[in-house]
Amino acid sequence: MNTAPIRSICCIGAGYVGGPTMAVIADRCPEIQVKVVDLNEARIAAWNDPDLSCLPVYEPGLDAVVGRSRGRNLQFSTDVDRAIATADMVFISVNTPTKTKGLGAGQASDLRWVEACARQVAKCARGHTIVVEKSTLPVRTAEAVKAILEASQLAEAGEQKGPPPSFSVLSNPEFLAEGTAIADLEQPDRVLIGGEDAAAIEALAGIYQQWVPQERILRTNLWSSELSKLTANAFLAQRISSINSVAALCEATGADVREVALAIGTDRRIGSRFLQSGPGFGGSCFKKDILNLVYLCHHFGLPEVAEYWESVVHLNTWQQHRIASLVVRKLFGTVSGKRLAILGFAFKADTNDTREAPAIRIAGDLLEEGAQLAIHDPKVSAEQIARDLNLPASSAPDAEAGPTRAALSGEGTWWPAANITDAVRGADAVLILTEWSQYRQLDWSGIAALMRHPAWVFDARSVVDPATIRSAGLSLWRVGDAG
Ligand code: UDX
Ligand code: UDX
Repeated sequence: MNTAPIRSICCIGAGYVGGPTMAVIADRCPEIQVKVVDLNEARIAAWNDPDLSCLPVYEPGLDAVVGRSRGRNLQFSTDVDRAIATADMVFISVNTPTKTKGLGAGQASDLRWVEACARQVAKCARGHTIVVEKSTLPVRTAEAVKAILEASQLAEAGEQKGPPPSFSVLSNPEFLAEGTAIADLEQPDRVLIGGEDAAAIEALAGIYQQWVPQERILRTNLWSSELSKLTANAFLAQRISSINSVAALCEATGADVREVALAIGTDRRIGSRFLQSGPGFGGSCFKKDILNLVYLCHHFGLPEVAEYWESVVHLNTWQQHRIASLVVRKLFGTVSGKRLAILGFAFKADTNDTREAPAIRIAGDLLEEGAQLAIHDPKVSAEQIARDLNLPASSAPDAEAGPTRAALSGEGTWWPAANITDAVRGADAVLILTEWSQYRQLDWSGIAALMRHPAWVFDARSVVDPATIRSAGLSLWRVGDAG
């Protein structure tokens, strides 16, 4: 049993989870050397950019945290083998996307990168190494990681090259939400550590204890830890689908979903958070984790449980298609050739992440209908939007000139709008799809003067003041509001 304190950490995967998590550990534990490694050279170069506004992940407060420790005890590198060899503890924080083909396609997680990392750790580790699963994984993945590590231990012992490396595997799921990652890491509701090796658990707990109160560090067995992460995300996503289902009912009956959310949220058994109706949940985790749960339930012969959770994802997809089709309906049944301004493309505010963003499906449906979309987002690049929509950007049309050839032929096109004025000029409608704070303070009478009338505002995030919109002479649809 190894009880020495951790002096050196390696994290494989410099993404939205690995980067901020390691930056906070390095900031809070100056005596620990933290190396974040990634196969992606461009990503590592961006983490090393002297200009802290160029970090590959946009996250409020991250630049300050990285600025304090980079070059001191925080390093970003592509030398994965060396970082593993010198580490007492290796975090695996690589992506685990949903499989697109083969067994479990569309539901199960693709574990090929996690497996590759385990093999690389097995090959390069020296001495006793604690391997920590940070990536969200299906239950019992730790078993596979352990099997790979143990096989290498046996092989090394067979070759008799001195003492073989030894390993302990822990599960330490991440609960940070993008946009608030730094605060979530600095003041977590809880830290969860699952494992069997008490000394390894205490070594990891010792790191978090530098800034997290002891009672917030929960210790469980490996499988409980892995399943807790999937369950936490499934519960959170389920609340959003529940409130979005009620939003549709509110629109039909004359109730207001914000009032309903307030009324039910004051019941302490329900609680007020995560009851914001919107264009459906996005992000890299919710859908993937629920589908993982669905796959596991089928695997363990529980089809009713699988169906229960799958309906959370179905409702979410339905909400996104519902919003796109109501836009078409309100605009006299056609958006072909019409200019629409999309405000917000990220899956939530304060992030540049677009994975599973509701805007992708909603914009995709409108493009299908032949719309001409001007897309604005303060942090998402035009290249990213083009990848997500699977459609290159067109050049912005001249608002004074007549319809473009594409518009006349009914072909959907989009272009990036540098600012809100450019986005709304000549538009028949504005759709707010991300709750960026700047969209809460828009000059609606100025915007109305630039639009083609009758003009609509579709507020999927409840950020506008209805009276202001109406007094600017605009028609308004707000999620969960009969109007
Ligand atoms: C990832 C997982 O998607 C999520 O399930 C988990 O909870 C945390 O890790 P995230 O950090 O948001 O989330 O993913 P991403 O931003 O894609 O970062 C993963 C990084 O790992 C990428 O930069 C990728 O280049 C890197 N990687 C992947 C490796 O360095 N080696 C590999 O073998 C595979
Ligand atoms: C989520 C979990 O919150 C986090 O604990 C886990 O580690 C990773 O997955 P994240 O996806 O980054 O984090 O953001 P989150 O704030 O949970 O938002 C997810 C989606 O739900 C966003 O699209 C957001 O707009 C939406 N949402 C959230 C709502 O529609 N309504 C709400 O009330 C809250």
